[in-house]
Amino acid sequence: MASSCLPSFAWIFALFFFFFFSDRIDVVKASRRIFKNPDSAETGSITSTKYRTAYHFQPPQHWINDPNGPMYYNGIYHLFYQYNPYAAVWGNISWGHSVSTDLVRWTGVGLAIAPTEPYEANGCWSGSATILPGNKPVILYTSSNARKEQVQNVAYPKNLSDPFLREWTKPDHNPIIEPAVDLNASEFRDPTTGWLGEDGLWRVLVGNKIGAGGRAILYRSKDFVHWVRAKDPLSYSSGSGMWECPDFFPSDGGNKYVLKMSLDDTRTDHYMLGSYDKVKDLFVPDGEFVDYRRWPRYDYGNFYASKTFFDEGKGRRILWGWSNESDSVSDDIAKGWAGIQTIPRVVWLDKRRRQLLQWPVEELESLRRKHVRLHDVELGTGGLVEVKGLKVLQASGC
Ligand code: FRU
Repeated sequence: MASSCLPSFAWIFALFFFFFFSDRIDVVKASRRIFKNPDSAETGSITSTKYRTAYHFQPPQHWINDPNGPMYYNGIYHLFYQYNPYAAVWGNISWGHSVSTDLVRWTGVGLAIAPTEPYEANGCWSGSATILPGNKPVILYTSSNARKEQVQNVAYPKNLSDPFLREWTKPDHNPIIEPAVDLNASEFRDPTTGWLGEDGLWRVLVGNKIGAGGRAILYRSKDFVHWVRAKDPLSYSSGSGMWECPDFFPSDGGNKYVLKMSLDDTRTDHYMLGSYDKVKDLFVPDGEFVDYRRWPRYDYGNFYASKTFFDEGKGRRILWGWSNESDSVSDDIAKGWAGIQTIPRVVWLDKRRRQLLQWPVEELESLRRKHVRLHDVELGTGGLVEVKGLKVLQASGC
């Protein structure tokens, strides 16, 4: 008697566990964000269309996260982004693709990459774009296979004479980088844009985690197809958790480089300035390195998984970051969308070469309409002055 009761008790317990916790498990999996108590009874006001942004980048509907592979190619800006084409929660993760001539007004041109291959069974994750000699762009991206191992792949434009590079093809030799046995295969992702060394070899970094520490693993290649892992990572740190979306770039004409990492544990983007020995592939950070909480940040708001690209057109480096509204999953579903990209910002090194500075791209000023000038106005006791003649709500449809 007692033994026949056991399985049914286990079942009841399992069902109870499932119904009680499945909501929360889903929230963590689907939202990939920090908040812990997502469900609010009141969804009405927050889901109003008036809260959709007009100036920030977002597709007409559904979920987005990280900016991927931003690039300037033949006079057009391309922005790819992590996108669920079917719902306002994380899943079916693909690369959405939009184009622009001014970084402010964007046109969607469909999906650049979507999971079609066995090595993409669990989605096409973040990555970068690199322009190879002969003016040929290539996308390098992570995918997660059926065993949830993360591998790196390439995709090429199908037709280089299409100004919008709408279609991308995946070669048969994907995946091109697989995790070696000593690597944690479920934390091995987000390849950087490639850079060419003086020895003619391409280099890229891939984010990884070992124990509680994050690192940027370095790979080298002659042809962007066959990659060999360097003996040492370019950089690593114990205690900082997984380094997602690494980014590595020169911050000036000299030898001051920026290594950025998105810390999965805290969902914050940090960077280090340092010197980079191009021959030995050695990056030596300036100043405090041990305690990751003291590494500088791009932004103290809701800003994550950022990525820069060099804009050859205007000779500037531009930074994009993902911002989520921190709404509940149920609110996101009711709204029909989730996530925006921040306004693109120019980043540069300050004169003392100690930190990065940033400012929204100048193109944003083209959204300004009516100018209001105030002269000889005295601040009242409360220090407030009402500026009349302005509508403060953003105009929709931009
Ligand atoms: C960062 C991230 C990346 C990953 C992608 C998946 O937000 O977790 O590490 O490639 O999102 O959508």
